Amino acid sequence: MAEHLTKSAARNIFYGGSLFFFVIFVGLVAQSVHYAIDNGGKISASAAAGKRVWERHACFDCHTLFGEGARFAPELGKVWLRYGGDKDPQGARDALKSWIRSQPTRIEGRHQMPQFNLTDQELDELVDFFIYTSTINTQNWPPQPKTAG
Ligand code: HEC
Repeated sequence: MAEHLTKSAARNIFYGGSLFFFVIFVGLVAQSVHYAIDNGGKISASAAAGKRVWERHACFDCHTLFGEGARFAPELGKVWLRYGGDKDPQGARDALKSWIRSQPTRIEGRHQMPQFNLTDQELDELVDFFIYTSTINTQNWPPQPKTAG
């Protein structure tokens, strides 16, 4: 048995090793792409418009969405499910819209949410946005879905 690597053995180890890790790399990229594509429902035009309402009125100045934003008010990523949207979609839609319409509550000792004077269409778009965010598989992040992450 040779005591030293021959040139061709070293070359084979180099090419073989490179190929081996390149195949693993391609596999990991494919897996990431699979998760990225398969994560949540389709974004409707209305949900996309709802995201713009969310941004225009800077709801994230007080709320978090999946832990991102300010921690003054409840986390809203899964608010649709908290309002029972999976069981009674119309009831949850009405409840969310009337909650936003009836702010501020002026209840002593509670943080207040301002009145945004949103149109019925903007409210529906926001709800569609929350329906979309509720379908995103966050692997249970944030750990406490009601309070900020
Ligand atoms: C100035 C801070 C502030 C801003 C900005 C704000 N909110 Fe709120 N929001 C609150 C607070 C505080 C509460 C909780 C009030 C309470 O429980 O009495 C709340 C509650 C809510 C709830 C009910 C959450 C639940 O779990 O019951 C929804 C839905 C909501 N906000 C949506 C929005 C949307 C949409 C926007 C942007 C258009 C927005 N908020 C902007 C402060 C804010």
